[in-house]
Amino acid sequence: LVVDGSKGSGRQIPDTFFGAFFEEINHAGAGGLWAEMVRNRGFEAGGANVPSNIYPWTIIGDESSILVSTDRTSCFERNKIALRMEVLCNAKSCPNNGVGISNPGFWGMNIEEGKTYRVIFHARALGPFDLKVSLVGDDGVSVASTQVGRDGSYAYKWTRMETTLEANATNHNSSLQITTNHRGVIWLDQVSAMPLDTHKGHGFRKDLFQMVANLKPKFFRFPGIFLSGCYVEGGYLRNAFRWKDSVGAWEERAGHFNDVWHYWTDDGFGFFEGLQFAEDVGALPVWVFNNGIGLHDAVDTSAVLPFVQEALDGIEFARGSPDSTWGSVRASMGHPQPFDLRFVAIGNEECGMPNYLGNYLKFYAAIKRSYPDIQIITNCDGSGQNLDMPADFYDFHIYTNAEDMFYKNTKFDAAPRSGPKAFVSEYAVWKDDARDGTLLSAVAEAAFLIGLERNSDLVHMVSYAPLFVNNNDRMWTPDAIVFNSHQHYGTPSYWNQQLFSESSGATWLNSTLQTSSTKLVASAIEFNNSEDNKTYIRIKAVNFGDDPENLKISINGLTSNVQKSGSKMMVLTAPNVMEENSFSEPNKIVPQHTLLLNANKDMDVTLPPYSVTSLDLLR
Ligand code: AHR
Repeated sequence: LVVDGSKGSGRQIPDTFFGAFFEEINHAGAGGLWAEMVRNRGFEAGGANVPSNIYPWTIIGDESSILVSTDRTSCFERNKIALRMEVLCNAKSCPNNGVGISNPGFWGMNIEEGKTYRVIFHARALGPFDLKVSLVGDDGVSVASTQVGRDGSYAYKWTRMETTLEANATNHNSSLQITTNHRGVIWLDQVSAMPLDTHKGHGFRKDLFQMVANLKPKFFRFPGIFLSGCYVEGGYLRNAFRWKDSVGAWEERAGHFNDVWHYWTDDGFGFFEGLQFAEDVGALPVWVFNNGIGLHDAVDTSAVLPFVQEALDGIEFARGSPDSTWGSVRASMGHPQPFDLRFVAIGNEECGMPNYLGNYLKFYAAIKRSYPDIQIITNCDGSGQNLDMPADFYDFHIYTNAEDMFYKNTKFDAAPRSGPKAFVSEYAVWKDDARDGTLLSAVAEAAFLIGLERNSDLVHMVSYAPLFVNNNDRMWTPDAIVFNSHQHYGTPSYWNQQLFSESSGATWLNSTLQTSSTKLVASAIEFNNSEDNKTYIRIKAVNFGDDPENLKISINGLTSNVQKSGSKMMVLTAPNVMEENSFSEPNKIVPQHTLLLNANKDMDVTLPPYSVTSLDLLR
């Protein structure tokens, strides 16, 4: 590999190059990044009619001691279902721990010794009441509990109750229980239990936040109706995510059934939280909104204006002044400063559907009229031909086998340069080659990413998909980050992405790879490492073959010698290409870091079979 490393050579890769894609899929948000532990907190998941299914809540006690039903007497207008408990026993006759209800969270609540949890709920009763709020491990042992109650004067009105519990033991599979041995009738609604210890107190589960932060994403693509991916569309429009339902007080959020990925979301992680997450992680938000098209239905272009207005209002919510109609709602949620929204995507994967173009043009014109600086993303692919619509970016998705992904490293070499820029917002090797995240996938994806870097005059943004999976609900595999209530790990594809996280804003260096092998791809960039404020040349090389390969590197224009002391090498490989990480072996396939003691402007490196090698040479 001959690299032109002379000062001032090369081309700048866009600052936005490397980012993250988030979708409410696999319980990525509800039961994942969003640290709310109660599932179906408003009892709305069973539908707006009564009797309503309260799953996954269960009843503690039998018919002789408690009768549980639902009615529509909630004090919250947008979610009227409340839980009614008629307690038939008293202190003498109730079972020892009382009767009531229990919520297992999302496959168990992670309760850790010494940590504090805030429980909030709303209650009303016919007379005074006394409730025990406890976090109980799967062994039946309480790890935290407290007593709350209301005297007769308050009991008749809906009252917000808030308490904190400090855990005296750890149990990763706990439940929240609300019990009593006080005879009477009591209604409960909007029950929340969250750890106090979330990222900046913003409600993001800390370990998962950090996993994303470590990728140093420069943008965060998310559905703000809330989502990107098919979640934006909804199977049917009536179920699509509507951002207005997801902002304001959490108790007032209606929640909705995610009919693409088949689960209920209380929408705690709403539009505001998506924008907040992007800001916290240092990324620009890319808001994907519904364009009046579901997977199975669509709004005619002649009737799409309400959807257009909804998108305009969403932009105002994100970046309007705190005095504006929707900017004031954002301000009331604690963020008077506008969010830095510069990119929006009109829908997801509907190009070619009957109403796409007509609807798109309506959105495009209205947004550009009100917000000329906003960059608009179409989901029509412009990589093979010029598009018949105005756009700043076109969206490109690819899910394929490993070999195809490897050879797709040339995909954009001949793509038109005259039209919109490219946003590769979803890519991954999938199916047999990937299983739940193999080394083979990561190696092929590394080659693809090198190809995108090479074409970064055109490809300005790239993100892997999907980002998260709760291991208890794999709707889609593979995913970058796997978690359960208390553990997480990165797949090889996650670790591969870390090798590209310095590419945003780096300088692409011209290089020539002379080889007879069709299984090698390599590149060079120069970047400034913000951690030590030093400049490095990073060489990345992918060997997608069965045999080791010797790579001769020669860097022209390095006037001074490479500083050996700070130079290092990272290698991502494994003895078996189909190997994966797991909860029991989370670090089986991660980049191996070594110091590069033989660093030089001319050097030889051995590339193991099926490997990604990255060399950081300190200038
Ligand atoms: O990333 C999973 C899905 O793949 C997304 O919902 C969709 O955009 C694509 O088809």
